[in-house]
Amino acid sequence: MSTLTLSSAWLALQAHQSAMAQQHLRELFARDSQRFNRFSLKFNDILMDYSKHPVCHETISLLLVLARQQRLEDWITRMFRGEKINDTENHAALHSALRGEHPVMIDGVDIMSNVRRVLTQMEQFSTSVRDGKLRGYSGHLFTDVVNIGIGGSDLGPLMVTEALKPYSSNHIIPHFVSNIDGTQLELILRRLNPATTLFIIASKTFTTQETIANARAAREWFLAHGGSEKDVAGHFVAVSINREEVEKFGIDSDNMFELWDWVGGRYSLWSAIGLPIVLTIGMENFYSLLTGAKEMDQHFLTAPLEKNLPVMLGLIGIWQINFFGTRSHAVLPYDQSLHRFPAYLQQLEMESNGKRIDRNGDEVDYSTGTVVWGESGTNGQHAFYQLLHQGTQIIPADFLVPCISHNPIGDHHCLLLANFFAQTEAMMRGKSMSEVCAEIEAESSMNNIAAESFKKIMPHKVFPGDRPTTSILFKQLDPKTLGSLIALYEHKVFVQSVIWNVNPFDQWGVEFGKQLAGKILDELEQDRQITSHDSSTNGLMNYFKVNR
Ligand code: F6P
Repeated sequence: MSTLTLSSAWLALQAHQSAMAQQHLRELFARDSQRFNRFSLKFNDILMDYSKHPVCHETISLLLVLARQQRLEDWITRMFRGEKINDTENHAALHSALRGEHPVMIDGVDIMSNVRRVLTQMEQFSTSVRDGKLRGYSGHLFTDVVNIGIGGSDLGPLMVTEALKPYSSNHIIPHFVSNIDGTQLELILRRLNPATTLFIIASKTFTTQETIANARAAREWFLAHGGSEKDVAGHFVAVSINREEVEKFGIDSDNMFELWDWVGGRYSLWSAIGLPIVLTIGMENFYSLLTGAKEMDQHFLTAPLEKNLPVMLGLIGIWQINFFGTRSHAVLPYDQSLHRFPAYLQQLEMESNGKRIDRNGDEVDYSTGTVVWGESGTNGQHAFYQLLHQGTQIIPADFLVPCISHNPIGDHHCLLLANFFAQTEAMMRGKSMSEVCAEIEAESSMNNIAAESFKKIMPHKVFPGDRPTTSILFKQLDPKTLGSLIALYEHKVFVQSVIWNVNPFDQWGVEFGKQLAGKILDELEQDRQITSHDSSTNGLMNYFKVNR
């Protein structure tokens, strides 16, 4: 058994869970009219309600004891101070410095002057492109920006440009190519004119196979459709820490935006990886995004644990995963603009905390990161909510909801919100057998046959309820609020990593597949039958070779 699962805080929570599991959420609400006030928090115009979880005053106290036992406050300070808490890679984790303003030292050097230098470079470049001072080789304005990157070099900027479309100038359209499947690149390039297209090759390492292959293909397309070698410099820029590889690829280092080893890929949208965001919504809006995140950082750093949104969001997750045994977590934005938010969170949460070895190198004997998934708006209601309401698994869900829509068509927004309120209430309350019976009795007009068949379906109409949800409401999805929301989740992930004693900033698990793919690629290029793998892999590869 690990020190964590043997600790008094852990054991106390386990004992407390048995008591809480006996009580339906409906009873908890019936007993305490102040429940919402007790278990909701506000930060700026963000309201986070976690009262629809099986918690009471004692639960929160015990979770806070666990957080203190794991020295959460200390870890938060160490992260912001720039200590090398990504110890398997010997790096700091300083995404907070990308939106900060105070000096932060790494190895005796203040990194903030570099941060400011790159922000200025981004501002000058994006302003020139947006104002038309920088143009394509034929003298026309740039109309399209293609970001070629994957994982953290794709999901963050993609999610933000989608979320902040109401703030985009509309004369520069962003496109994102990530997949090594040529279909994605082909379908995008087919619609573009090389003379008005700017390519951003975004790769922290500049060695990622998918990105480099797509970047090469994009350059070939550019040269084959009217661009010349001397025009490449004006149409291709790079974001990376790897100057040597960028130059080898043929991009002038003047056209490179620098990144640093203390920025994790999935925490990098605040850096020059955010260049497609800046080109689309402008630097002023990007600064508002940074401000929103900075304000959440300050809150995380200074607010008492029990009033701290990222801390409480993280601890509620711990309560569900480690004590109620939940295995997946739904993210359900009731805002079409946030339709890529679940995908973004998938990488943030699953790549960060999908770990089975703790910081001491020991295998854990408790669950860590959970499966994160989701879909926006009412679409999910007509697809998978059936399982959320009546399935055999309990799946906690986060609902993200703006009070004001950017597109107030008719009464659409009220309809959307009515659905949100109804769903979270239904998941909490459920519908009991006696309520179903009362419904039948109310149907006094029913004849005997109809009443008989209704009784048969009665059990199917029962909703157990007691399904936990967190609701995060905010005024409107503007750049500042979005910045705060993203930082809220970044820090939530950190809180959970501290409780689980895992390093959330490395991703060794991704390397194994990459290594194997390299070996298999060589084998695919030869004509001979494959016999060097297990029978399944051999069989599949040989089928491919015959049928390609
Ligand atoms: O998927 C693994 C990973 O290393 C991610 O962590 C990262 O965001 C992505 O690949 C892309 O890496 P790079 O920016 O170096 O191309």
